[in-house]
Amino acid sequence: MIDDVVPVVENRPLTGGHFLLSVQSPRQAQATRAGQFAMVRLLDRSDVLLRRPMSIYDVKPAVARGRNVAPPFMAAGAKLRLSASRAEAGLPIASGRVPPGPTVATIIQLLYKVVGRGTHLMAELKPGDKVGLIAPLGHGFFVEEYLDAAQRADAVLHVAGGIGIAALLLPARDLARGGIRQRLFFGGRTKEDLVGLEEFKPLVKSIDVATENGSRGYRGYVTQRLETFLERNRSKKYLLMVCGPWGMLEASVRLAKRFDHPCLLSMENRMGCGLGVCLGCCIRVVGEGHNAYQRVCTEGPVFWAERVVFESTDCAD
Ligand SMILES: Cc1cc2nc3c(=O)[nH]c(=O)nc-3n(C[C@H](O)[C@H](O)[C@H](O)COP(=O)(O)OP(=O)(O)OC[C@H]3O[C@@H](n4cnc5c(N)ncnc54)[C@H](O)[C@@H]3O)c2cc1C
Ligand code: FES
Repeated sequence: MIDDVVPVVENRPLTGGHFLLSVQSPRQAQATRAGQFAMVRLLDRSDVLLRRPMSIYDVKPAVARGRNVAPPFMAAGAKLRLSASRAEAGLPIASGRVPPGPTVATIIQLLYKVVGRGTHLMAELKPGDKVGLIAPLGHGFFVEEYLDAAQRADAVLHVAGGIGIAALLLPARDLARGGIRQRLFFGGRTKEDLVGLEEFKPLVKSIDVATENGSRGYRGYVTQRLETFLERNRSKKYLLMVCGPWGMLEASVRLAKRFDHPCLLSMENRMGCGLGVCLGCCIRVVGEGHNAYQRVCTEGPVFWAERVVFESTDCAD
């Protein structure tokens, strides 16, 4: 975890009040693993004191001649190893030593939606402005047990609701580099919410989109599309990786249980400190007493679905 003040390189407006913020931060970019997040602080804004949590959407490599660096995305010691050159070409990579590569990540990208004061001010950031960034935070997707589950499955199914897509690009890219078959189910309120689709196209076998107003793809919830798919492919074993609003998480967990697939959730609870101190991000998990709560910022943000207690429904039954 690195606390730094970093310059904005670009803050690109996308559809539907979404933005793609790129900041120059080599040390943080190189330390990042798929599924981790950053805490963003707007400098000189006494009206927005708390940092805002944002998934690390992407890290962009830049050429650094003569330097041998491991690609930034994977945990050290993880079984799935990447070759920088093959990875850049989108080719599957066998296990083994990480070969020398000419690329090094220097840019962190955050994909965000303007929803309130903090993100509204983020949208005003311009190239050359500076932001405070603590990153990378959380343990992300690729602790070894998650990789084992991905490698055992016939395919990984990414299920994204709205801005939840931001947590899934890095894992999708890592899995594609490891030759693991993937599909994306992506839902939004309208077609303007379906940002980042282009990035996924080279990584996944299929993309299934749904919008609540029917402006693109299936009219309804993306979990309905997921249900149809799982019905049709009952004999297959999938690993679900899900990020989105609470209701979508619950619906996905129900489907994972019904069809008996392992399921990982990337949680986006509201956060205070992001550092494990304030306990503001706790969720209920299976357990008793103090063990019944875990902090999304430090024990997450990624959890096995069966660990999470959805108190409003029977999901934990
Ligand atoms: C681990 C993690 C990763 C996240 N990744 C992203 C990301 O990649 N892109 C992105 O756009 N957002 C992401 N979020 C949500 C983001 O942090 C909030 O949208 C942001 O903090 C809102 O700040 P604000 O000042 O603009 O809104 P506020 O003024 O604080 O709130 C505005 C509205 O948004 C709602 N809101 C605020 N925070 C959340 C939240 N965490 N979940 C649901 N509703 C919320 C409030 O209830 C309120 O209705 C992530 C959150 C977490 C915990
Ligand atoms: S946000 Fe403070 S403990 Fe998690």
